[in-house]
Amino acid sequence: MQPGSFIVKQEYFDHLSWLHGVNHTCRVMALVWAMGYELQDDTTRDLAFCAAFIHDMARESDGICRVHGPKAAESKLPLFKDFFISQGILESQLSAIAAAVHYHSLLEEPELNNEYYKVIAFLKDADALDRIRLGPFDLDASYLRFPFSKKYILPARKLFLKTVRGTQYSPIAGIEMLGKILKKDLLEN
Ligand SMILES: [Fe+2]
Ligand SMILES: [Fe+2]
Repeated sequence: MQPGSFIVKQEYFDHLSWLHGVNHTCRVMALVWAMGYELQDDTTRDLAFCAAFIHDMARESDGICRVHGPKAAESKLPLFKDFFISQGILESQLSAIAAAVHYHSLLEEPELNNEYYKVIAFLKDADALDRIRLGPFDLDASYLRFPFSKKYILPARKLFLKTVRGTQYSPIAGIEMLGKILKKDLLEN
């Protein structure tokens, strides 16, 4: 997977958004990438990275919306599946991306025995870490699913503060910024 090949464009989104637009998507992707080092599971990381790319593209507003996950899995995954496959995702793994995108906006948690639980939970945690954009008390850390996710609360806050204004970032720029915050080369092989 080449994170530099992922470009998040405004026109991919059904709704122009500051809260759930390009920079939010890039931050969630960067958090997925960084937390992949904790997980030690490149496949789950790569699937969640692709899921993060499309997860909020089908939103129709910035309000509370439970259906934009299922909608994005239906309408956005088909648009990008060939690109994901060009990045090393197998056709048989696309259903894991669909599941993560589908579940991310639902209130109910996936069952622990859901075959895609890890990818779903990973995207949910990375997405939740960027709740700092909504306010300083908007993230309830007890909801985070992986124990290591808590370590990323402060880095996620710093990443948000660096990207809150200005240009449209890219996932790779987010990864580089997060690498500096964590003092870690996140792009080493
Ligand atoms: Fe969402
Ligand atoms: Fe999101």
